[in-house]
Amino acid sequence: MEAHPHSARVAVVGVGNVGATFAYALLLSGLASEIALIDANHAKAEGEAMDLNHTVPFTHPTRIWAGDCSDCAGAAVTVLAAGAGQQPRETRLDLIKKNASIWRAIIPQVVKHNTTGILLIATNPVDVLTYAAWKLSGLPAQRVIGSGTVLDTSRFRYLLSQRFGVDARSIHAYIIGEHGDSEVPVWSLANIAGMRLPEFCQAQDLAYDPRAMEEIFLQTRDAAYRIIERKGATYYAVAAGLMRITQAILRNQSTVLSVSSLINDYYGISDVCFSLPTVIDRGGVESVLRLDLNPEEIGKLHHSAEVLQTTIGCLDLN
Ligand SMILES: NC(=O)c1ccc[n+]([C@@H]2O[C@H](COP(=O)([O-])OP(=O)(O)OC[C@H]3O[C@@H](n4cnc5c(N)ncnc54)[C@H](O)[C@@H]3O)[C@@H](O)[C@H]2O)c1
Repeated sequence: MEAHPHSARVAVVGVGNVGATFAYALLLSGLASEIALIDANHAKAEGEAMDLNHTVPFTHPTRIWAGDCSDCAGAAVTVLAAGAGQQPRETRLDLIKKNASIWRAIIPQVVKHNTTGILLIATNPVDVLTYAAWKLSGLPAQRVIGSGTVLDTSRFRYLLSQRFGVDARSIHAYIIGEHGDSEVPVWSLANIAGMRLPEFCQAQDLAYDPRAMEEIFLQTRDAAYRIIERKGATYYAVAAGLMRITQAILRNQSTVLSVSSLINDYYGISDVCFSLPTVIDRGGVESVLRLDLNPEEIGKLHHSAEVLQTTIGCLDLN
């Protein structure tokens, strides 16, 4: 379908749990005037388009249809959520073999029709597939973004908010590195109202318990496993995270989000995609923020980069 000259088009490739939930959140937000749904299972995309269109009278005038990769033309953002989901006891890196071959089919099709928009990757392993999307698309790295640890950071902030009795939006704490088992909590910079967590506890007459903090990190890191054991997949929080990234792009908000993007000379780490607090605006990655990490955090970030580089090395992306 031809893009209307003043439309804000968002394309979603892969409308399973994650893609369809994102499309629903996007429709409720009113941010996009056009939402194109693309899936290898076209009937599924058609069914989602019908259901979402029946939501329009309650929400915002929006054109929603089931299409193909040619409908990515003119999209400001193309969200990629196609591929197999994580199975119980399967690590995210185990998914690579299944999803890399899907990437080789989809990415050239998307960029054939759209060389100006931003690719926003959700499919796991998200860091490896963000790197693969950058390589396979030939797009500038600032326009290839993975949802990365946006989700882990929100889980972390939620759990800290429960511990400290403060609104999660007032907790400033990041998970960086891989979206997965080697992710790194940045305890040294975590703060509430500019007070580091031990300082906050002292001021509020609370005990600062490092073991409880470690438990919060473990619950953050392993949340996907716990949710998948119970309901088979995770999608609401990641869809909300994808929405937040899309909003930062469409509204040119210069928001700091822990997305995954190509890393260049960060504490000596290059040529890998993983998450760091990143300023996101209309052009995608405006800048990756240089954090003043402590030596332990730097060591863990190096480990995370090595884990990802090993996997990337198994793929033939040239
Ligand atoms: N980044 C994150 O934080 C995060 C969080 C949750 C899930 N995920 C990941 O998102 C991905 C999707 O998960 P889900 O639960 O929505 O899976 P799902 O199985 O419900 O949906 C995947 C969809 O992709 C479609 N698909 C497969 N191959 C395709 C192709 N070549 N072209 C177009 N569509 C294709 C399928 O038909 C299906 O509808 C998984 O990799 C999952 O691990 C990421």
